[in-house]
This record gives sequence, structure tokens and C-alpha cells, in this order.
Amino acid sequence: MTDTLVASKTLLDIRNLKMYFPLTRGIVFQRTVGYVRAVDDITFSIERGQTLGLVGESGSGKTTIGRTIVRLYKPTSGEILFENVDLATLEGVQLRRMRRRVQMVFQDPYASLNPRYTIGSLIAEPMHIHHIGTSQQIREKTEELLRVVGLRPEYIDRYPHEFSGGQRQRIAVARALSINPEFIIADEPVSALDVSVRAQVLNLLQRLQKQFNLTYLFVSHDLSVVRHVADRIAVMYLGKIVELADRDELYAAPKHPYTKALLSAVPIPDPKVERKRHRIILAGDLPSPINIPSGCRFHTRCPMAQQICREVEPPFELKEGHEHYSACHFAAQVTPLTM
Ligand SMILES: Nc1ncnc2c1ncn2[C@@H]1O[C@H](COP(=O)(O)OP(=O)(O)OP(=O)(O)O)[C@@H](O)[C@H]1O
Ligand code: SF4
Ligand SMILES: [Mg+2]
Repeated sequence: MTDTLVASKTLLDIRNLKMYFPLTRGIVFQRTVGYVRAVDDITFSIERGQTLGLVGESGSGKTTIGRTIVRLYKPTSGEILFENVDLATLEGVQLRRMRRRVQMVFQDPYASLNPRYTIGSLIAEPMHIHHIGTSQQIREKTEELLRVVGLRPEYIDRYPHEFSGGQRQRIAVARALSINPEFIIADEPVSALDVSVRAQVLNLLQRLQKQFNLTYLFVSHDLSVVRHVADRIAVMYLGKIVELADRDELYAAPKHPYTKALLSAVPIPDPKVERKRHRIILAGDLPSPINIPSGCRFHTRCPMAQQICREVEPPFELKEGHEHYSACHFAAQVTPLTM
């Protein structure tokens, strides 16, 4: 394959991204006394039309990655290449133009939709912000979007409180789609919903992906949800991606003890197999991203840790398998999950 062909398949290429939040002390004279290393040197890419699932415990930095990509934060360092344009350094008009191509769907459809506006004006707002279309065109497009996400266009003048959680998330998706983005960051889009409607919203997202050739970064702490939607999966621990692989390979042959522990916590639908499931319980809590452990940051909880793990940080590198990356000195010794 030529370089141009390779380049055209990749939509988003994140290189050595860091997002540190300064910790300050003092009321009048503020001084920086440390940093929250929420995202700490992360590299990954996503191909057009694909879904990358991003998983990890609460506080591992998943939302911070999403918010940094859409430039709600200015990254501390690193590159966010969107079709070879670096979003990390863009400002002003150029940033606004690129922002049209990337949209975010949030976890809580109760908090993300302003209750004082009709759903029609909420869906149309991005079109107004980006000056797309006349009033008549915007109204028609809004009705069309309601249909696309499975809601009746007659609902256009109703308010968010008149809808259920699942319907609200459909409205949030319609809003995100209104300016024809290519890339959507869905941050725990079904976590706040009743289990009974989760599958419907996930199916909707998958249908829309095919219909509009969308690329997704799908954030979730739930590996069973991610398994359903992702082509590739990145596992995050304390600000770093520790493993990245094709979905099926990651489940069948994890190459990081943390991934294996997360997989062991996923319930199995078959009750016979479920009874035999061997759960790996990790010792202790997630350490603070202000005080990251030396060497391998997972060593304080890792059941396989050795002396070298406390001293030397394992590089995030290609391992045996198809495009399978892991950051573990003993990746080759990680065995598949036993049932
Ligand atoms: N604006 C901020 N200022 C300072 N620290 C922050 C800020 N935003 C996030 N953090 C810290 O960065 C770390 C990562 O947070 P983040 O919200 O990205 O995690 P997450 O993986 O999305 O967690 P969850 O699963 O709970 O949503 C946490 O320790 C959090 O307290
Ligand atoms: S490098 Fe060591 S501590 Fe880190 S995950 Fe591998 S075995 Fe565990
Ligand atoms: Mg989050």
C-alpha cells in the first residue's frame, strides 16, 4: 500500500498527547504546586468509519481525552491530527471550522439538554452557531433529524422534560448530527439509561454510523457495552493507554494484566459458565493522578508485578498479534482468561 492510501484511511491520529491540570495554592498569589496528570502521553489512531472503544476505571482520564480532542481544553503537549491538521495548535476561525467536523454526545441527557428550550431549538442550535442554512431550511433539517433518530417530527416544539432518558439521548444525537460531523465522541452515551433502552440507543448509533459513514470514539467503563460496538479497543489506566488491539483479539488474548482483570469482571450471560467465572480482584484503589507510582504505574495493584516493574516504565509497543499494543514487561506471560 502506498503512503497516501494509508494516510487517507486514518481520520484521527493522536500522538504523545498530554493533558495536565495545574494544582494551585494561595488565594491572592496563586502558585502551581503540582499537576493532575489526567492524560499522560497517549498515542493512538482511528480509521475512517471505525469505532474505537475507550475503557478504564472511573478517573482514568477517558473524558479528559474526549474533551481535549474537541479542544474544550488546550493540551499540555502532543498532536491531535485530524486528517493531518493539528487541532492541538489551531485557534480562532480555523479551530471553529474544524470543530464542525467533530461532535460530542455526553453521558447524561438530563444535564446536557437545557430544559428551557424546545427540542427543535436545541437540535438546531449548532446550525445557528455555524451559520448553516436559512430559518426554513433549518426547520426542515430539524424535522428530518428527528425522523432519522426515530422520533416524530411533530415533537419539534416540545420540551426535554416531556421525554424519557432514551428519547433524550436520541435528541442529543440528533443535535450532534445537525452539522454533518464526520467524527463523534460518545462519552458513556448509554450509562445513564435504563438497561431496557440501552440496546436501542446502541443500535441507533450503529445504524447512523453506516448511514453517514461516521467515525466514533466510544467511551465506556463497561466492557460488555464496548464489545458490542467497537472495532478496536483501547484500555486506559491512570492517564495512559496500557493496551490497544482489535476487539476479538483483546477479549481472546489480552496482553496486559489490567485488561485481564477488567475482562474477568464482565458477567457472562450463560449461567453455567457464569458460575465458573474466575474474577480477578485488584488490590487497593486507583492511585491519584497527582502522585503516579514509579516504573509501571499499575505495579501497586498488579498480580504479576516484579522488581523491574517498580523501577522501569514499560514502553507501549507492538506485541505478537495483529496490530496489538501493550505496555507490560511481561506481556508474553499474560495468559487468556480461564473459565
Ligand atoms: N478540569 C479538571 N481539573 C482538574 N482535574 C481534573 C479536571 N478534569 C478531570 N480531572 C481529573 O483528571 C482525572 C481524570 O478524569 P476524567 O474525568 O477524565 O476520568 P474518566 O475516566 O472520564 O472517569 P469517569 O469514568 O468517572 O467518567 C481525575 O483524577 C479527575 O479528577
Ligand atoms: S509491567 Fe509489571 S506491574 Fe506493569 S502490568 Fe506488567 S507485570 Fe504488571
Ligand atoms: Mg468520564
